[in-house]
Amino acid sequence: MSRPRCDKTAAWRRLQDHYRAAGAAFDLRAAFAADAQRFAHFSQQAPHVFADLSKSLLDEQTEQLLLGLAQETRLEAHRDAMFAGERINNTENRAVKHWLLRAPRNAADPDSVAVHETLDAMLAFAEQVRADPTITDVVNIGIGGSDLGPQMAVAALQGQVTPGKRFHFVSNIDGHELAAVLRDLKPQGTLFLVASKTFTTLETMTNARSAKHWFEQQGGSDIARHFAALTTNVDAARQFGITTTFGFWDWVGGRYSLWSAIGLPIAVAIGAQGFRDLLAGAHAMDEHFRTAPLPQNLPARLGLLDVWYRNFHGFTSRSIAPYHSALRRLPAYLQQLEMESNGKSVDAQGRPLAFGTSPVLWGEPGTNGQHAYFQMLHQGTDRVPVEFIAVRQPSHSLPGHHQLLLANALAQAQALMQGKPDAAGHRNFSGNRPSTFFVLEELTPATLGALLALHEHRVFTSGSVWGIDSFDQWGVELGKVLATDIARRLAAGDVEGLDASTAGLLDRLR
Ligand code: F6P
Repeated sequence: MSRPRCDKTAAWRRLQDHYRAAGAAFDLRAAFAADAQRFAHFSQQAPHVFADLSKSLLDEQTEQLLLGLAQETRLEAHRDAMFAGERINNTENRAVKHWLLRAPRNAADPDSVAVHETLDAMLAFAEQVRADPTITDVVNIGIGGSDLGPQMAVAALQGQVTPGKRFHFVSNIDGHELAAVLRDLKPQGTLFLVASKTFTTLETMTNARSAKHWFEQQGGSDIARHFAALTTNVDAARQFGITTTFGFWDWVGGRYSLWSAIGLPIAVAIGAQGFRDLLAGAHAMDEHFRTAPLPQNLPARLGLLDVWYRNFHGFTSRSIAPYHSALRRLPAYLQQLEMESNGKSVDAQGRPLAFGTSPVLWGEPGTNGQHAYFQMLHQGTDRVPVEFIAVRQPSHSLPGHHQLLLANALAQAQALMQGKPDAAGHRNFSGNRPSTFFVLEELTPATLGALLALHEHRVFTSGSVWGIDSFDQWGVELGKVLATDIARRLAAGDVEGLDASTAGLLDRLR
């Protein structure tokens, strides 16, 4: 599909003019003073997620101009192409259909039928594992999208995890990680899930081989019972010796795969119904993104705000502040989702871009971050938009804590915006620092599913406006190739032809 380059549109030029005329000097405090309805105008209830954008550097006119940009870059047509199953991942010539993993079964669509067959089989297996008291430990071996999603979701939904099973996530090729996990395991009580879309990833295959070796050395024999593979490459898994396999498809990107068989650890943790609720929550957000008019379309509004911040305000980073400790892995998950999707410097046709793309995403749960780096957010030289995520109802019953937690989230957002003038420079808070505030009623599979799908579509939106292929990840290839060569050199002590720094370090590390 041909779409105009965003920086060549009339809307882009209008946004530049508007930024110079009003955007750069925009003041949140003045905006609230001028519009008593600002909170109502700039907040929105989407499926399972309430979002307050009123503390964003946005006014009506900016939103209108951003919507004009979406129109000129044909965001809706691009979105519809994704939902129609067109091969919008053009550099890999693949469709992008992770949304189908959470859509109800459609008997007329063979892909949907296959999705639901696998889902049913995987959930039946999950229930079988849950009902088996002899399996006490589930070890997920995978990296990137085959680790971050399941790890984040199992932690997020810990309130609903059935007691009696421990979950471990091993991703790093660093043997310290696997060794530390194996130390406490017994082969007869362990289920290893080898999660890899390609079943070729060096880290995962190295860890899987070591785990299998450990299992056999410890006297374990029933591989079919203690190992399962989650992969699109079922043949490679069989060759590896794993016969219990759950497949998925090349149209599911790694970082979009927790909804597929890669989600098996989540299903074991929260049960089949919990996993179906997670899918249903995400599906509700898919429908919202697919059908809501852009002015009321939350993922689109957020993605457009991201473009405004990145390309006009020039912000290069965004801080994620989940005010719920169970969401502690969410920043890392969102980091991969956005930075691997949109960290590109060429468009989908390979032409260099003359504007910025993915910001750096980072963060820690509140209130911890407040006592670490919030100093910089309040008084540093850079303005960093902050995203607060609060959950209204706690899933513990300790009195007092949750109100204080929520009060802190509100206070931080308020302090960032309002600031506090003081003649003594070190006590001065400039304020006018933007934030977005998300509220979930409770942290449940459904609300988590919706929150994640919201972010997927938001990343789609900014990537679409920028004209990049948000679904490839060529940038990880070079390091992989060089590591293979350097591993050989490290073993042999061969520094021939290497740059002086790599050669010197290689010598040092031998
Ligand atoms: O780091 C690149 C990457 O391809 C990610 O996109 C992916 O999630 C990860 O590696 C793991 O890949 P696989 O699931 O094929 O092992």
